[in-house]
Amino acid sequence: MDRQTQFRNHLAEGQVFKKDYIVLGTGILDGEPVSNAQIKIPLKTLNRHGLIAGATGTGKTKTLQVIAEQLSLKGIPSVLMDLKGDLSGLAQAGSVSDFILKRSETIGVSYDPQGLPVELMSISNEKGVRLKATVSEFGPVLISQILELNDTQRGVVALVFRYCDLNHLPLLDLKDFKRVLQFVVNEGKSDIEKEFGQVSAASVNTIMRKVIELEQQGADRFFGELSFDVQDFVRTKEGKGVVSIIRLTDIQSKPKVFSTFMLSLLSEIYETFPEQGDSDQPKLCLFIDEAHLVFSSASKDLLEKIEAIIKLIRSKGVGVYFCTQTPTDVPDNVLGQLGLKVQHALRAFTAKDRKAITKTAENYPDSPFYDTAEVLTSMGIGEALVTALNEKGIPTPLARTLVRAPITRMDILSSTEIDQLVASSDLVRKYNHDLDRDSAFEILERKMNQVESVQQKEIPKEVTRKSSSRTPKDESLLKELSKNTMVRQLGRTLFRELARGILGSFSGKRR
Ligand SMILES: Nc1ncnc2c1ncn2[C@@H]1O[C@H](COP(=O)(O)OP(=O)(O)O)[C@@H](O)[C@H]1O
Ligand SMILES: [Mg+2]
Repeated sequence: MDRQTQFRNHLAEGQVFKKDYIVLGTGILDGEPVSNAQIKIPLKTLNRHGLIAGATGTGKTKTLQVIAEQLSLKGIPSVLMDLKGDLSGLAQAGSVSDFILKRSETIGVSYDPQGLPVELMSISNEKGVRLKATVSEFGPVLISQILELNDTQRGVVALVFRYCDLNHLPLLDLKDFKRVLQFVVNEGKSDIEKEFGQVSAASVNTIMRKVIELEQQGADRFFGELSFDVQDFVRTKEGKGVVSIIRLTDIQSKPKVFSTFMLSLLSEIYETFPEQGDSDQPKLCLFIDEAHLVFSSASKDLLEKIEAIIKLIRSKGVGVYFCTQTPTDVPDNVLGQLGLKVQHALRAFTAKDRKAITKTAENYPDSPFYDTAEVLTSMGIGEALVTALNEKGIPTPLARTLVRAPITRMDILSSTEIDQLVASSDLVRKYNHDLDRDSAFEILERKMNQVESVQQKEIPKEVTRKSSSRTPKDESLLKELSKNTMVRQLGRTLFRELARGILGSFSGKRR
């Protein structure tokens, strides 16, 4: 038996799948792509998470694009965190070239260029569906973790939430939260001390300072209404999974906002998705490009929470995929949970690099066909060492893989194309309203001003009541929304209050 046949048999034995799968590419032996040696990833184990690693320019983002495409074609939606702004091309068909046709033929797949259903989203000022969440939905535990508070300060935050619950003061945005913090040590001081005991003004000051810090990183765009319903990630159009691209290019320099957002998203998915049980395919896959940004800025507490959620979210049928330069960017506890590993080339410039390569090689299954460490540094662009989990949860044979070309555009959309996409989005219509309904800030302001206006009757109310500056147009919009969305929204917030009680166990487990 020749070496190529041995190689094919070796791959085939390890990739016996009864259920559906996607084809990532074809195996490479002795530097040459081998025909009839396809590298497959079973849909059944895609909720077991994964890693796409490799040096800059080796093909990580294109691999991510290819996997998201193949999932979409199978009707599986995905969410992509796009930190470099290079994923929007998924909405348009790729262009045919001799190079790509030849590559597809070698791999044994047809090249059928097409645009896929894409939804652009943003947590800041980028064009697309605005993703938001209320402070109340975050809950005291998560807020405290994000602000990196100590136990005393956490106590104050818990008290603030409790006080607001009892007094029907909705905490929607950071403005509300700051206003209540102020209230607690000023106008409301004696009331609160009667009920909860003394509150340390120094703690409140620290919390306030940290909230302002978070605000300065741009998080104020993210807190508020209308909060995003994560079920809207799970959509199909004409049988194809919708690819939600969250554009985060302006967030790179604000890692804290990014990890905050990531954690809130994962918690929300965890808390609202039903248990999936044994299933033939994932419900949703989440891809995080430049994932080192999530981990490098996260506090120990936040990291532990991310690790815990990653472990638990599997049972909801959600797979999380990290895209980063070296596997060492990902904490060991997370790495140990990853089923799919796609390792593009690594470059060995320094002694530290070489150490990282040796360590990386050790984390892959042995192969009779490769010297893993040698292959790691010699692979070309668009090639990767791949191992997935088979349907029984056993790693598939390690294979140097020629990754197929994306069927969507490898380049980005033009600004006209982006405008068109955003204009035709029903989710944009659903979420992109400026909604500032009466919440803690307005209610407290009004209460205080009433006290004041009794004291100084000569000042007309209009001057002191900043909160009534809402224009009639806003009023009618509010009325319109209150018919459906707000009722639903209130329902969700209430549900969240309950969930917080129950899942408090989840969020508080580690203390
Ligand atoms: N699977 C592939 N098929 C065709 N070309 C590819 C593929 N992967 C990478 N390339 C080429 O390599 C370039 C760099 O890939 P990219 O995914 O952006 O790298 P990275 O994300 O690792 O920095 C792409 O612009 C493309 O020209
Ligand atoms: Mg990239």
